[in-house]
Amino acid sequence: MGELVCDGLGKVYSGGKRALSSVSFRIPTSGVFALIGRNGAGKTTLTRILSTLLEPSEGGASIDGLDVMADANRLRERMAVVPQEARAIAWMSPVQMITAYLLWRGLDYREAKRRALYSVEKVGMSEHANKLNRNLSGGMKRKVLVAMVIASGADLIFLDEPTTGLDPISRKELWELLIDLSKDRFLFITTHYLEEAERVADRIGILDDGRLLVLGSMEELRAKLPHQYSIRVSAGADLPSFEGEKRLGRDGQLQVLTSQEEAMHISRSLLESKEKFSLNPITLDDIFYQMVGRTISSGVEEEDGE
Ligand SMILES: Nc1ncnc2c1ncn2[C@@H]1O[C@H](COP(=O)(O)OP(=O)(O)O)[C@@H](O)[C@H]1O
Ligand SMILES: [Mg+2]
Repeated sequence: MGELVCDGLGKVYSGGKRALSSVSFRIPTSGVFALIGRNGAGKTTLTRILSTLLEPSEGGASIDGLDVMADANRLRERMAVVPQEARAIAWMSPVQMITAYLLWRGLDYREAKRRALYSVEKVGMSEHANKLNRNLSGGMKRKVLVAMVIASGADLIFLDEPTTGLDPISRKELWELLIDLSKDRFLFITTHYLEEAERVADRIGILDDGRLLVLGSMEELRAKLPHQYSIRVSAGADLPSFEGEKRLGRDGQLQVLTSQEEAMHISRSLLESKEKFSLNPITLDDIFYQMVGRTISSGVEEEDGE
């Protein structure tokens, strides 16, 4: 099986802004890898370097043995990249846009048109194949970009915040498409929807201030933290003394992060005093909070929908 390898990657933009610092990791090039982090963490910078669009200032990276700098042209034949700012071209239809993209990738017209029609059908948009993109909903416009990825035949796919700004239903539909795509392709996705990353990704990396804090499957991430369990209980409940962390959630409930042993001890005591509570393994949201010291969206305004 192939691998994506980053070795000491660093990036300093002209002007002196450091966006990445010695990022090193290796992951298999299969399934879904989700890169998460707050705005400005360096997600786009890392995605652009790995997708051969930007040169690193330090270190290097390779995908399935091909160097992102020296073998960029060979890698590009296997890649499809959807940048953060990518949008469906308003004055074209899905089929026109995908056909044009495939012609640009070097396919002949017949094959390009055939694949455009097939991919539009694959994302469930046959009815809209020949409408102008400007008349499609925000969710469908994003699906057009996914159809382009499918049509390209590429097996290394980079998607920078593909679902940001969409409503929850469109997001869910798009994730379903992406999960389906990942069955026989590698998807490198950045997102700040942690619940979705947790559900969809085989492996997750947390980037903060240009540094990779941790990387692994959900289970591996949990195992790296001192507190693997979360108890939620009303703020006024009587808690025994324990080792762990307490915080007040946005829902007004008290959340306790603690070890398995301490969680048992607290649960027993709460059961005895007949308090209502829930006990769960920590979520990616909890992991993010423990690693970064803040929630992913603190101090950031949500982007507007389309
Ligand atoms: N072209 C650029 N020139 C200078 N600074 C940049 C440039 N692009 C991004 N940055 C800065 O680098 C940091 C990381 O940005 P980015 O990779 O876009 O983060 P993210 O995608 O996680 O929001 C930010 O501080 C950003 O302002
Ligand atoms: Mg970005």
